[in-house]
Amino acid sequence: MAQDRCRPNRTASFALAAGPAPVLAAVLAAVLAAALGTCAAAPPVQAAEVTREQLVAANYRQGMVAFQQRCSACHSLADGGKDLAGPNLYGMFSRAAGSKPGFRFSAAMQSAGFTWTAQRLIELVAAPDGYPPGSSMALPEPVPEADRIALASFLMVETGGADWPRPAPPAAARGAAGPDAPLAERFPSFWNHLMRNTTRYRLEREGAEPYRFDVYFRTDGSAAASDPAIKGFWHVDETDTFCYALHGLPVEPTQFVECFPVVAMSIPRFREELWTSTPVPGVRLTGGIVAGRPAAAEAKGGAPAPR
Ligand code: HEC
Repeated sequence: MAQDRCRPNRTASFALAAGPAPVLAAVLAAVLAAALGTCAAAPPVQAAEVTREQLVAANYRQGMVAFQQRCSACHSLADGGKDLAGPNLYGMFSRAAGSKPGFRFSAAMQSAGFTWTAQRLIELVAAPDGYPPGSSMALPEPVPEADRIALASFLMVETGGADWPRPAPPAAARGAAGPDAPLAERFPSFWNHLMRNTTRYRLEREGAEPYRFDVYFRTDGSAAASDPAIKGFWHVDETDTFCYALHGLPVEPTQFVECFPVVAMSIPRFREELWTSTPVPGVRLTGGIVAGRPAAAEAKGGAPAPR
């Protein structure tokens, strides 16, 4: 019986059940196996290898929700995003486990000896006690089986590991969420990127020092800035164009308006120079997005300290 459970096909039956039962079964199997010394080193195995077709067909939104609920507290995804409690995951699907420079991985992760694949990721999020065993990442509970492939697929798309296109935000997100759904649901990538990070500006006028400031777009339609004198607001119209206005700048022009298609802003990129414009003749405005924002940026009325 225990011997049977050490064969690779032992998990086929676990996968049929949902909820805590398979976890218990897997733990029992591991305990029995360890006691018998048969396959103690075998990593937790999922039923069948996930296929490319399954990943391409997976529900992007379902994966996104799973990520936001279960992973986003500790992991950022965008290229150049910060390491949080866990490492930034951009590029993880072409990286050996535990090899991202600049992050202090556990010895277990560093010596895992594999490169991340969708299958490995699915095994990771199914593992209740760390994967590979000894890893310092502990999930409070396994990701429900029904969400695992969607989560893997979403991660591949968002970390540059998919060889299929990101579902076009307007069509796919609208189709799933409906045209009347909140902006955050229709354009999650745009929303998360802009509402959680810092938009950084440099205003250059001939013969003057460049003027730099940061802006924090907020979910209530307002915008705060590193300079408390600067205020602003934003709006997305029915053609899915994002327009915003800033006023109270201490230099010319003291106010300006810019508009961009939301789709163009849905690719989460961090760079100090993402766009330039000429709000008034002789003035060059450079904008970009950098990761994170001061907590005070969310406080109503309270302006964060200048950086
Ligand atoms: C409480 C914080 C936390 C949560 C929540 C969390 N992680 Fe982690 N994650 C970590 C830590 C810490 C590590 C490093 C583990 C180690 O070194 O053993 C890690 C490592 C990883 C790695 C390996 C990265 C690499 O470069 O080798 C992946 C992949 C990963 N996490 C994915 C996820 C996914 C997917 C979720 C959501 C289901 C998630 N994590 C939830 C903290 C977390």
